Amino acid sequence: MFQVLHKDPESKARCGLMSLAHGDVETPIFMPVGTQGSVKTLHPEELDLLGSQIILGNTYHLWLRPGHELIRDLGGLHDFTTWQKPMLTDSGGFQVWSLAKLRKITEEGVRFQNHLDGSKMLLTPELSMEIQASLGSDIAMLFDECPPYPCEQKYAEESLALTTRWAQRCKDWVEKNQPRSGEGKQRHFGIVQGSIWADLREQSARELVDIGFDGYAVGGVSVGEPEHEMFRAIENAVPFLPEDKPRYAMGLGTPPQILEMISRGVDMFDCVMPTRVARHGQAFTLDGPIHIKNLEFERDQGPLCESAHPHVARFSRAYIRHLFRAGEILALRLLSFHNLHFFLRLAANSRQAIREGNFLEFKESFIRRYNASKD
Ligand code: GUN
Repeated sequence: MFQVLHKDPESKARCGLMSLAHGDVETPIFMPVGTQGSVKTLHPEELDLLGSQIILGNTYHLWLRPGHELIRDLGGLHDFTTWQKPMLTDSGGFQVWSLAKLRKITEEGVRFQNHLDGSKMLLTPELSMEIQASLGSDIAMLFDECPPYPCEQKYAEESLALTTRWAQRCKDWVEKNQPRSGEGKQRHFGIVQGSIWADLREQSARELVDIGFDGYAVGGVSVGEPEHEMFRAIENAVPFLPEDKPRYAMGLGTPPQILEMISRGVDMFDCVMPTRVARHGQAFTLDGPIHIKNLEFERDQGPLCESAHPHVARFSRAYIRHLFRAGEILALRLLSFHNLHFFLRLAANSRQAIREGNFLEFKESFIRRYNASKD
C-alpha cells in the first residue's frame, strides 16, 4: 500500500505514494482535521479546490455524537459527509484525555465521563477498532495512551507497556473481525509512545513492528515539551521503523517544524493549528504569521500572502480585516481556506524539492524567510 518513489540524498526526506481504499495519497502530506466529520467552515468542494488528498476524523467525537451505528447505517463516514477521498480516524484515547472528565485508565481501557452529557463511558481497544470499522475510514489508528509531559520515566514505561498490550488487542480484534484483504481494506497504524526516553521510543517501535501494522505513527509529541525534545522523539523512533511503511507524526506542527520532521523521514502530518488560529484572525504567510485584526492592515490592498490561492487572493487584507472585525463568517472561511492552502502547498513544494534533489536548500530558505521578521 506504500511505495517510496524518491529519496533525498542529503537527509531522510522521501516522497512516496500511499494507495488507500478511497484513492491514492502522495507523501509527504498534510491532513486537514475534520474532527466532527467537517473541516471547520469549509465545504468539501473547497477541500477539493485546495487539493486535499486525505482528511482526519475523530472516533471520540463521532462515537458520542451522532454515534457510529447511525453513521454506519447511513453508509459510513464517506457517504455521511460526502467526502469521497481517503480519511484517517484517530482512535479516541488522546481525545478522551484532552476532553473528558474523571478519566481512569485500567487494563481494560479508559473509563470517563463524557463532556457532552456527563454520562459514564468506557472506551476499550476493541471498541475503538469497532467504531472505526463502522465509520469506514481508510486508516484506523490504534488505541493508545499518550503520557503527559513531563512524566516520570516509570510512568512512561508502564504506559508504554499498556499501549503495546492494547496494540496487540487491536490487532487481534482486526484479525477476527476484518479478515478481508486487498485494495478496499481498512489500514491500521500503530502509535509509538515512550515520552522523552530514547530506549522507550526504540522499544515501542520494535514491539509495534513485531506485531505488524500497515504504517506507524509517533505519538506523545507536541504535548508541551521543548521543540528539541519533539525532534529527538522522532529521531529516536524512525531508525526502528520499516523503510517501506508510511510514518506519521501526530498533531504537528508549525511550518518550520513540519519541514524539520520531513527531513527526519516523516511522511504524514495533521494539525488543528491552521484552522484553529484562522478563527482567531491569524494568517500564515511566507514571512511568518500575521494577525489580520492589526491596524497596519487597515488600508493594505495586497492579498493575504503572495502565495495565496486565487479563491482568497482576490480579496485584500483590508477587506478581510474589515470582515473579521465585523464578525462576518466569510472572514473565518477565507482565513481557514488560506491557512490550509499554505500547509498543503508546503507539503506539495516539499515533494517537488525531494523529487528535484534539493529539499534541504528548500527547507533552509523557507525557514530563513519565515523567521526573518522575528529578528
Ligand atoms: N494526536 C496527537 N498525539 C496523539 C497521540 O499520542 N495519540 C493519539 N491517538 N492521537 C494523538
